[in-house]
Order: sequence, then C-alpha cells, then structure tokens
Amino acid sequence: MRLLVTGRDGQVARALQERAAAHNITVVPLARPELDLGAPETILPALRRAGGDIVVNAAAYTAVDRAESEPELAERINGTGAGAVAAAAASLKIPVVQLSTDYVFDGTSARPYREDDPVGPVSVYGRSKLAGEEAVAAATP
Ligand SMILES: NC(=O)c1ccc[n+]([C@@H]2O[C@H](COP(=O)([O-])OP(=O)(O)OC[C@H]3O[C@@H](n4cnc5c(N)ncnc54)[C@H](OP(=O)(O)O)[C@@H]3O)[C@@H](O)[C@H]2O)c1
Repeated sequence: MRLLVTGRDGQVARALQERAAAHNITVVPLARPELDLGAPETILPALRRAGGDIVVNAAAYTAVDRAESEPELAERINGTGAGAVAAAAASLKIPVVQLSTDYVFDGTSARPYREDDPVGPVSVYGRSKLAGEEAVAAATP
C-alpha cells in the first residue's frame, strides 16, 4: 500500500514515516512547494504525480496562539486547504484521512470527549479545523 502523507516534516507525518515500514506500507511524504494547502491548484497535480492508495492530510496550520492574529491564513490552510485535499482525493477515487483536534470542542465537558460530541470551538484554530472537517465531509460523500 502507498500512503500519500501531506505535511511531510510535521509530527504526525514523521511518526507515520517511522512506523510504516514495519507494516509493509510505503509512505510518500509531500510538502511545500510541490503541495501547498494555501495554493489549492498544486494539490491535485501533486497527488496524481505521487500516485497512492490513500491520502493522509497531516498538513495544517497548527500555531494555535498565533492563529488569533492570522484568522484568514488559518482558515485558508485548515479549512479551504483541507477541503481541497479531500476534493482532489475524491477526483482520484482514493480515500482521505483528515485529522481532527480536541480544539473543535469547547473544553467544558466533565468527561473525555467522543468523536460524535457536539462541537463548539472557542478559538480561531478550533474554528478553522472545524471548517476543514465540514469541507472534507462535503467533498467526500
Ligand atoms: N500533534 C498533536 O498532538 C495533534 C493533536 C491533535 C490534532 N493534531 C492534528 O494533526 C495534524 C498534524 O499535526 P502535527 O502535530 O503533525 O502538526 P505540525 O507538526 O505542526 O506539522 C504540520 C505540517 O503542516 C505543514 N504545513 C503548514 N502549512 C502548510 C501548507 N500551506 N501546505 C502544506 N503543508 C503545510 C507544516 O510545514 P512547515 O513545517 O513547512 O510549516 C508542517 O510540516 C493537524 O491537523 C493537527 O490539527 C495533532
């Protein structure tokens, strides 16, 4: 299996690269400038060139505090960009894995969150990640 992983040098992408071989999985890590979530026109060509069975979108704007002063950039990468990765994967007829975050919740629950709990982000980062989840869901019925 060939796993296309965006965000090549990030924590999640590096962990996948380290562990893949033991599971007979080839990881093809992708990064800017070849694949830039802020430049959606780069995404489909990069995924097509790399040729894989599944895409893991591990690229994201993850500067949680800085996002408060850069809301448009966070939304462009985590919202629109994630949706564009999913749309490209759909057009290549391969599945996409989108990574969520606890920041989509409001943090007031007395118990650990479950994936299907109601969302309620209270930060720019959380709202941008939620926008990405919605865009990915819309692009991949
Ligand atoms: N690590 C955690 O504990 C954790 C927890 C919850 C959720 N997550 C989720 O897991 C995913 C990956 O997180 P991570 O911890 O691996 O993040 P990370 O270490 O910050 O890595 C993010 C990667 O995305 C890349 N990137 C940023 N902007 C990009 C763009 N416009 N186009 C292409 N790549 C871009 C970064 O590249 P540069 O280095 O060049 O900026 C970096 O390699 C995120 O969706 C995050 O919300 C992670």
